Formats: sequence, C-alpha cells, structure tokens
Amino acid sequence: MKIQTQTMTQKEIRINFTEYSSFDEMQPSDRELVAEAIAAMGNAYAPYSHFHVGAAVRMSNSQIVRGSNQENAAFPSGLCAERTAMFAAGAKYPDKDMQSIAIAGGVHGRLSEHPATPCGACRQVMAQYQTKAGKPMSVIMVGARKIWKFDRVDDILPFIFDSI
Ligand code: THU
Repeated sequence: MKIQTQTMTQKEIRINFTEYSSFDEMQPSDRELVAEAIAAMGNAYAPYSHFHVGAAVRMSNSQIVRGSNQENAAFPSGLCAERTAMFAAGAKYPDKDMQSIAIAGGVHGRLSEHPATPCGACRQVMAQYQTKAGKPMSVIMVGARKIWKFDRVDDILPFIFDSI
C-alpha cells in the first residue's frame, strides 16, 4: 500500500464585488431597482424589531416585484423582505427568471448607513431561484453611504447547497 504524504493544501476563496459611493455611479436599471427597494421599506410591518426592510426583484420580463418584512407575534411566522419579494415574484411570474434583487433597510424606516446584508435563509432561497434560472442573479445591498453589488449569489453564499 502506498502511503500518501503532503496531500493537504490550503485553499482560498476570493469574492469580487463593486462598491458604489453614490447612487449616480450605478447603471440606470440598478438605480431603479434600488429606488424600488427603498420605497418598499415603507410597506414593512415590523412592530417588534422596528427594523424596516425593503426588497425589489427584477424579472426577465423587466417587471419589478417589491417585498418588505412582515413580522408576527408568533415570531417564526414572520418573513424577511427578500423572501417576501422572491416568493411573490415566483408566484406572480412562475415562468420568468429573477435577474437581480436589491435590499434596503433601517431602524424605524430610516435607511441605514451600512448596506443591508441578507440573512442566510434568504441567501439560500436566492441561490435556488438562480439555479432555476440557470443564469447569475445579482444582489445589490443598499446603504445610505455605500452600495454593494455582487454579480451572482455564489459570491455571498459559497458552497451553495443545491444537490437535491
Ligand atoms: N430582516 C429582513 O427582512 N431581511 C434580512 O435580510 C434580515 C432581517 C427582517 C426580519 C425582521 O423582521 C427584522 O428584519 C429584524 O430582524
């Protein structure tokens, strides 16, 4: 039997993303999606956390679907803005692809300075709609001072579970 030595290697993952310091730097379609996500914050129902989140999904037919976080006294029954938007989009346009999602949030509806970063469960749902589409879905995280754009969900969820 051959004994293997020195097979262990250190690996590294690099994530590329774009940081914008003003809305004007973005391409018009992204700017529009960001504006929709910020507007969607106004529809949040967040009587417990007071953290208002808005999301907007751009479909392959150019339609935009908004979502906002909806809380519930039975806490696990509430839902994040991103999943509210994606599930609404999937229900409304089952044959279309989700091309991009923008997310904005802030305490008491005031847009936070730091970009709104989606929770793990929402990233997993994004991943599956991206797989369903068969093409990259971009993710735009909006803050008042800076905006981050990731070109594909893989960049915010390495080692995506998609094996079923
Ligand atoms: N929330 C979202 O809507 N999206 C996220 O990515 C993180 C958290 C909501 C859930 C809850 O209503 C509130 O923000 C505080 O966690």
